[in-house]
Amino acid sequence: MLISVLGTGYLGATHAACLAACGHTVIGVDTDPGRLELLRHGRAPFHEPGLDELLRCGVENGQLRFTDDLGETVGADVHFLCVGTPQVAHGDQADLTALWAVADALAPLLDRRCLVVGKSTVPVGTAARLRDRIRGRAPAGDSASLAWNPEFLREGHAVRDSLEPDRVVLGVDSDEDNQLLREVYADLVAHGVRIFRTDLATAELAKVSANAMLAARVSLVNLLAEVCEASGADVGDLTDILGADPRIGTHFLSPGLGYGGGCLPKDTRAFVARARELGVVDSSRLLVAVDEVNTRQRVRTVELADSLVGLASCPRVGVLGGAFKAGSDDVRDSPALAVAQHLHDRGALVRIHDPRATLNIRRTNPDLEVVPSVEDAAAGAELLLVLTEWPEFAAIDPVDLGRTVARRVVVDGRLVLDPDKWRAAEWELHALGRAAPRSGY
Ligand code: UGA
Repeated sequence: MLISVLGTGYLGATHAACLAACGHTVIGVDTDPGRLELLRHGRAPFHEPGLDELLRCGVENGQLRFTDDLGETVGADVHFLCVGTPQVAHGDQADLTALWAVADALAPLLDRRCLVVGKSTVPVGTAARLRDRIRGRAPAGDSASLAWNPEFLREGHAVRDSLEPDRVVLGVDSDEDNQLLREVYADLVAHGVRIFRTDLATAELAKVSANAMLAARVSLVNLLAEVCEASGADVGDLTDILGADPRIGTHFLSPGLGYGGGCLPKDTRAFVARARELGVVDSSRLLVAVDEVNTRQRVRTVELADSLVGLASCPRVGVLGGAFKAGSDDVRDSPALAVAQHLHDRGALVRIHDPRATLNIRRTNPDLEVVPSVEDAAAGAELLLVLTEWPEFAAIDPVDLGRTVARRVVVDGRLVLDPDKWRAAEWELHALGRAAPRSGY
């Protein structure tokens, strides 16, 4: 099948490469020349394990190519819309500018039966409006139909989540569209992946609801952590006990600095904005609280650092972690980076290290001194903070690192450090969700 993928960010680049790996002929379209240049050489413009190999393979065997010319997609059977839907600059809603723009550019080219499939994350109701707009402008009229097929891939696991998803959601208006999408995903159908056929609105909601539930879970566990901290209970034991209940489960139960990235924060806010437009005002306050609790983790971490070293006295502070989570170089709405920037703004001399995100941190936070190693970040520091859950930080030898710092005081913002090991090496260890150490540590 000939398929176009419009927008080649995290979602589009991964989707295009995976469709090509499933045997389709795929044309990826983007307007960013730098990104296209990398993709044409089989390289992802961001860190994503396994994606470079898939891109290279697709480009080399001719199944996959990239262009900035939308005209080259004429004749495709299916067009996937994968452009970004970030938060608007002054408000909570999703910014759909890129989605409307690509749909308006594509519609006049649709002169035969084809299917446009939305994958971007959108407020419920967008797909129906988009369908009507495309039909009104396409020479093919009603022969150009629209479906919604949200993605649930996680950065750092995007290839696996695409090739072995736990569900595929097909929001369709007709049996014909359903059948065509099942042919697109024939490999997944053959492997018994659960396929949910539904309407456009439910498919749109399936995505934002999943992200809202994940966000709520993280904020709920952070509320529990705060109560543990205040009461002397142990949040690690508590989450182990909770996770043993199969109705609750063990995933997404890690307390700490909270959620970030290009999806959960903005999707939660956009969900509330859309719910309010639909008249669901009172109940949507639940998600407002989820967002507030999440932001509060960042504030609490900065306040803790201030109480430990007095930020106004310009202490040297080492920050380990800048990416919004381990396994990614993405710093969008990163809790770690937000804290590092606040520490800097309040007077601290910050040195930050992240195993993957150096270039992105330099680009977005030029005030921060980014250093190439854990030791460089720790050298002479009066306080060390671990703010992204990279496994290499969990593996740090506290005895060795203790020799490089000015004071052995560490804040574990992700609960990845072994408290016994660090305290045995005479570090004063503070962790969100764990009671403050008694004096004498
Ligand atoms: C999220 C969803 O998990 C995907 O299903 C979805 O497709 C994607 O958004 C999207 O909308 O495109 P992602 O942003 O890659 O994926 O990140 P997650 O793995 O969900 O983590 C989100 C944040 O929650 C991270 O900052 C992470 O550190 C934090 N988190 C996660 C916690 O604080 N505690 C946890 O227990 C789990």
